[in-house]
Amino acid sequence: MGIRYSCGVLTVSDKGARGERTDTSGPAICDMLATAGFELAVTGMVPDQQEGIAAVLLEWADRRVVDLIVTTGGTGVAPSDVTPEATRPLLDREVPGISEAMRQASLAITARAMLSRGVAGIRGKTLIINLPGSERAARENLATVLAVLPHAIAKIKGDPGDCGRS
Ligand code: MTE
Repeated sequence: MGIRYSCGVLTVSDKGARGERTDTSGPAICDMLATAGFELAVTGMVPDQQEGIAAVLLEWADRRVVDLIVTTGGTGVAPSDVTPEATRPLLDREVPGISEAMRQASLAITARAMLSRGVAGIRGKTLIINLPGSERAARENLATVLAVLPHAIAKIKGDPGDCGRS
């Protein structure tokens, strides 16, 4: 990656926010993004609560204008899982292929992958991606799409270059 794109990693977890569980997913995602050449601009942790999640996404996308926000957790089917509901209304445009690719690749690993309702899309100049919450699930999902993200971000930022593969 020529340009170092900035990113924010948000862990969504009731237990994590209460200090009852050590968050390993957030740090794992940070490691993967740093290894891929991203600059880690900000991290955070919030409980599974729609307004609180949305407030952080708005702050990071609209004020900090990070290039990429990755969330982990709260994508499942439990009553408390509201990360997609917090994310979707904020998106100017969804990028469903990102979530579809993650679920498709994950289904080859576990049938439970179908239970992640995570969404991905663009707000302003920021790409936002929901990942599931366990460290393993977060790693497996991010690994599927990581290599495509610099190109996606370049296009979101207005790169006029051709998309042909070299
Ligand atoms: N995807 C992958 N690759 N690996 C996993 O272990 N776990 C699934 C799914 N996606 C999993 C996965 C499970 S068990 C659930 S409940 C959903 O992600 C939602 O997880 P979340 O509620 O922690 O976001």
